[in-house]
Amino acid sequence: MDKLESINYPIYFNGITAQLNNFIEKGNYSRFFILTDEHTAIHCLPYLQEQLTNKDDFDLIEINAGEESKSIDFCVGIWKMLIDFGADRNSLLINLGGGVVTDLGGFAASTYKRGIDFIHIPTTLLSQVDASVGGKTGIDIDNLKNIIGTFTQPKAVFIEHAFLKTLPARQIKSGLAEMLKHGLIADADYWELLKNSDLNNPDSNLVYKSVVIKNKVVTEDPTERGLRKILNFGHTIGHAIESYSLEHDTDPLTHGEAIAAGMICEAYLSHQKAGLPLEAMQEIIERLLSIYGKYPLDESCYTMLNAIMKKDKKNQGGKINCSLLAQIGVAVVDNICTDDELCESLKYYSSLTYAPA
Ligand SMILES: NC(=O)c1ccc[n+]([C@@H]2O[C@H](COP(=O)([O-])OP(=O)(O)OC[C@H]3O[C@@H](n4cnc5c(N)ncnc54)[C@H](O)[C@@H]3O)[C@@H](O)[C@H]2O)c1
Ligand SMILES: [Zn+2]
Repeated sequence: MDKLESINYPIYFNGITAQLNNFIEKGNYSRFFILTDEHTAIHCLPYLQEQLTNKDDFDLIEINAGEESKSIDFCVGIWKMLIDFGADRNSLLINLGGGVVTDLGGFAASTYKRGIDFIHIPTTLLSQVDASVGGKTGIDIDNLKNIIGTFTQPKAVFIEHAFLKTLPARQIKSGLAEMLKHGLIADADYWELLKNSDLNNPDSNLVYKSVVIKNKVVTEDPTERGLRKILNFGHTIGHAIESYSLEHDTDPLTHGEAIAAGMICEAYLSHQKAGLPLEAMQEIIERLLSIYGKYPLDESCYTMLNAIMKKDKKNQGGKINCSLLAQIGVAVVDNICTDDELCESLKYYSSLTYAPA
């Protein structure tokens, strides 16, 4: 079984049983709690329970599935359940789920009684390659993503490829966007490898390689003072599109779908402002369009998107800040983008022609 060292905690891959039981035993915890959402309670909890030496020795906290649960109301719900169950400071919270469960569970645990231990067992591709690694916890307010949160590292992360078997194809594609991003910002060879892989079902080697990239970046810069900002490529515009879609669409975009659209706009800005060669920009855009198609953005949304970007956490002194690409595999941080430039990139996105195969 592979293992990586992160910021003072291990990340275990595949065949997690022995390590997980060992971790729980060694931690000498007074109690442990498992946080699931309604889907992971069905698809992932039975498998996890099978692996545990003490199969029934925990209390279960279950939330609704979906981004709406990443809210202060659900967080209060978790805190209250921990209080009702009598959780003391020596308790452990196991977050079994996608990024919503790991972000919310991490936040609830990092603040309950000034912080109790938590571990992540990520069950979506997105949470395996991204959300579970790096210690960002958080909740949304009024569709402002992750606006409240902490940097708190889990005590361990257990990545089990088997969980992905029940994950819907659309959620696989969502996680894939972050994997493509990892190649674009830090590893041109990985981007090439992804080109020649079965992306409908990324194998555990691809997952591992993606975590290696993310882990290297966050280990070098745990609190996002510099290098870590490269992970935000596609996210300034992507988060705005995601928030917009959450508010306006009956079937909102997944995080990855929104980030894919954001990466297209920011690839355009990279070419305009950061020296990304035209052919590289075209290659990125063609690839992303062929996987994700196009989200209908028209001029009426630009002002709203701009207003959302103005509230982005990454802004400095009221200026909107993007992480862009100088080449495939090389990112540059702290590119201030004007309203006009951002608007141009949205217009460019809208003008792209895409014919589904
Ligand atoms: N902390 C970070 O660094 C970080 C990084 C990236 C994303 N995020 C956050 O992660 C969130 C998105 O995470 P996500 O894409 O995992 O979404 P999610 O947690 O909503 O999961 C997506 C869907 O898949 C279901 N699901 C989960 N595991 C399953 C399984 N094994 N089988 C079947 N269904 C399953 C869930 O119930 C849900 O319906 C966003 O809130 C985003 O902001 C955080
Ligand atoms: Zn992301």
